[in-house]
Amino acid sequence: MEPKSLDNTPSYVPNGKRLWYELLQSAIAASPPQSMNVAQLATLRPTDSTPISNRPTVRSVNIRSINKDGLSFCSDKRAAKAQILSQVPEAELHFWLPQVYLQMRLSGKLRINKDEKMRQEWWSSLRPHEKLWFAWPTPAAPRDEAALAAAKPSEDISDDFAILTLDVDFVDVSLLAPSPFARELHILRVNEWCIQAVNP
Ligand SMILES: Cc1cc2nc3c(=O)[nH]c(=O)nc-3n(C[C@H](O)[C@H](O)[C@H](O)COP(=O)(O)O)c2cc1C
Repeated sequence: MEPKSLDNTPSYVPNGKRLWYELLQSAIAASPPQSMNVAQLATLRPTDSTPISNRPTVRSVNIRSINKDGLSFCSDKRAAKAQILSQVPEAELHFWLPQVYLQMRLSGKLRINKDEKMRQEWWSSLRPHEKLWFAWPTPAAPRDEAALAAAKPSEDISDDFAILTLDVDFVDVSLLAPSPFARELHILRVNEWCIQAVNP
């Protein structure tokens, strides 16, 4: 949705605060540790990947950081979700947090995060089997048994290790509790968050 399309919707109430952010943080805090940070990321498939290029595709990612700069996770630069960025950066993250009956869809643009200090720290925190993923041959290429068998985890940071950050500018929040059933759209318009309550 282009922000300008909201110019004719005065019912969006400027709020100033990033209410969706507080809501997501408290919902995650109320969720069991193992499940809390897994979200589903939707993008388009890169045009040259498969016969089903340009279709939507969705996969799980482990969200490691949620802050005012966006939502971040790590990825292999060679993977489809990173490759599509230069063509179509628009993406959406989906959370379902059943403890609080909350569905949150966060939409925006995905970018490769250039914070090198953060990248180094995240790499250091990976377990050996996670570092091994980055020594594997190109994701989604025909299986290369020899290269897979030869792969060894390295302590040196891989050039293919990337942090991807979604800069959020639109959030669709649904509270799916039996009552009250509520839905709100939050949009960032000219640096100000605005909210509209909508029918579920
Ligand atoms: C629970 C769970 C968490 C995952 N977390 C990540 C992650 O943080 N980063 C990642 O690149 N892939 C993660 N994956 C694997 C992706 O879902 C996906 O299979 C893989 O990254 C290839 O995606 P792509 O080819 O669409 O880029 C996770 C999978 C599951 C099931």
